[in-house]
Amino acid sequence: MSKNRYAHKPETYTEPDDDNPSANFHFTDILNARLTRRQTVIGGLSATTAALFGSFSLSACGGSSSDNPATPATPPVTKAALNFSAVGHSLDDIVKVPAGYSVGVLYALGDPQQFGDASWSGNGAETGESYDRRAGDHHDGMHFFGLADDGTYAASRSDRGVLCVNHENITQAYLHAAGPTTVAGARPAAEVDKEVNCHGVSVLELKRATGNALQYVRASRLNRRLTAASRFAIEGPAAGSARMKTLYAADGAATRGTVNNCANGYTPWGTYLTCEENWAGYFKRAATDTARTDAKSLDRYGVKTGQSGNYGWSTPEGDLYRRWDTSSTAAVDGSADYRNIANTFGWVVEIDPFDPASTPVKRTALGRFGHEGCQPANPVEGQPLVFYMGDDSRNEYIYKFVSKAPWSAADKGRAAGATYLNEGTLYVAKFNADGTGSWVALSTSNPALASFASDADILIDTRLAADIVGATKMDRPEWTAVHPTNGEVYVTLTNGTSAVRPQSATDAANPRPGNVNGHIVRWREANSRADATQFQWDVYLFGSPSAEAPGYNLSALTDNNDFSSPDGLWFDSRGVLWIETDDGAYTSTTNCMLLAATPGQVGDGGAITAGGGTATFKGANPGEQNLRRFLVGPKECELTGIAMTPDNKTLMVNIQHPGEGGTASKLTSHWPDSQGNAASTARPRSATIFITKDDGGAIGI
Ligand code: FEO
Ligand code: CA
Ligand code: CA
Repeated sequence: MSKNRYAHKPETYTEPDDDNPSANFHFTDILNARLTRRQTVIGGLSATTAALFGSFSLSACGGSSSDNPATPATPPVTKAALNFSAVGHSLDDIVKVPAGYSVGVLYALGDPQQFGDASWSGNGAETGESYDRRAGDHHDGMHFFGLADDGTYAASRSDRGVLCVNHENITQAYLHAAGPTTVAGARPAAEVDKEVNCHGVSVLELKRATGNALQYVRASRLNRRLTAASRFAIEGPAAGSARMKTLYAADGAATRGTVNNCANGYTPWGTYLTCEENWAGYFKRAATDTARTDAKSLDRYGVKTGQSGNYGWSTPEGDLYRRWDTSSTAAVDGSADYRNIANTFGWVVEIDPFDPASTPVKRTALGRFGHEGCQPANPVEGQPLVFYMGDDSRNEYIYKFVSKAPWSAADKGRAAGATYLNEGTLYVAKFNADGTGSWVALSTSNPALASFASDADILIDTRLAADIVGATKMDRPEWTAVHPTNGEVYVTLTNGTSAVRPQSATDAANPRPGNVNGHIVRWREANSRADATQFQWDVYLFGSPSAEAPGYNLSALTDNNDFSSPDGLWFDSRGVLWIETDDGAYTSTTNCMLLAATPGQVGDGGAITAGGGTATFKGANPGEQNLRRFLVGPKECELTGIAMTPDNKTLMVNIQHPGEGGTASKLTSHWPDSQGNAASTARPRSATIFITKDDGGAIGI
């Protein structure tokens, strides 16, 4: 349980650090502030607690609260019933699904998108150049877009589609014939080229072959790879800023590459959003690089003095590699070197999957941080569009973007991106101790941010602005998900260690000191308006091994639904919440997993008390009826990325970094080859898989 989440990561992996030195309250402090006010325990429920959460109970019943202006009246959701047998814990090197379901491998590392490139060799023989046309590594967030026969977006089509898949990172050990090498202090350019091309995004045409099974269409005109070397436009308030100028684009309106593409989003007009998460570690910064005017910004984002940059990509000769070094080498401004290059990363990037010739756009209005995902609120005609975003590093924040333009469903296609994603307001979340919360605007219209010269500076230094307005520090915000009918928003908080979580005032009532298994928070916007600036929240679910004491296993999880470190999170159209784990704390018992849940709504639970007087406020315990394990992955993987065909009959998920702890000479997984071949000796590969029900029915319910 005390195992570091990334203890099993390759040495070159950079853990998302706590780079937040601000004195803002941590979410734990708020829970603690609530708890320390509960002194008298009566029959398992403190009198103070009952008073505190009375307004939640009232609102859940459709009543009103006199002390909580954020409380809307929301009727209970109608829940679908889960209808499958839970998958047990597993340490096997295969994907396990419930009885009556089958698994297929759709698109694995190295699979060629076009004709002319050989199939994956399994020995690292592929050229780096060929990965510009092959599946990259570390499949992560993804989205399925139905495809009409005329090549346009068809939201309800299931038998033909375009899949966009993020390739977040690499398992470097398996990409080369004998692992990575360094010669006289420099990485061979050919190896770097392969690693760069294994990052980014795949766009891939899919079709149904037999029944509900999917296959990709090799040589489709829509197939495309975007990599850490592709060209990206930069739009929005920060485009053209002096701080965005580089030797590559002196106008500050373009850059080369997207990197560490983690979770995702999509737009109502049919484009894909890919999110740049732990990009800071890829850049080199000299140990002596302390005098620059933007040192505070670099430090806050984790581009630290003395770091050589992940994988040594700046070490070969030439501009293509030099761009990973943030040093100032020219006497003039940033247009003559790459001192500003890190400012061109950390954005949400919009891709048009239906036009392979289009240039994707980094949308600066949505802020710059460790973007995990970007989930749209349910769009309402005539109201602004809203997108929810987590910043995944320890003690970071939760954000939302509200478009200036009101939504019109008549807007379709790529041009809508400029309409809705270049102008709007970025907000950061404050969670109050009384169960309400507020969204604080990060713009020059907020007097608290008068120290910023422009909105461009606020967006480039989003974290610094959020520090100033007193945003609430969270336990590593990962994916956000929006309930399809009631619009409530869920966010995974993957975990927090006792070393970085503040311990002050926690002795008597801290619900989860050393929150190594994580939890899920949810909120309801005031008056059911996604663009509201007030909300009401609770803790939907706490991760925990089932064997933990009730004082820690606060959601009463069992062997059939216990989990640790929630990460991927997505609601399907029927209101089933899919929860994926990226865990290092429960992996001696089970590999990472996918669970299906049917949540209620904010306020459907209440207060609990447990061992030693520990108390908190949370949603109703799910029980196995409303939370059940659907899938367990192979060895040393994480489950991430999820999509479903609109008819709910084909589920797609990503198996990322199976066998990540091994080396080219000592493999620790053979998946996916091991799925049908127990004696496999193949190298492991990240892959997109699809799951179908053997009777042809809908998945999960
Ligand atoms: Fe890329 Fe926060 O997981
Ligand atoms: Ca993630
Ligand atoms: Ca992850």
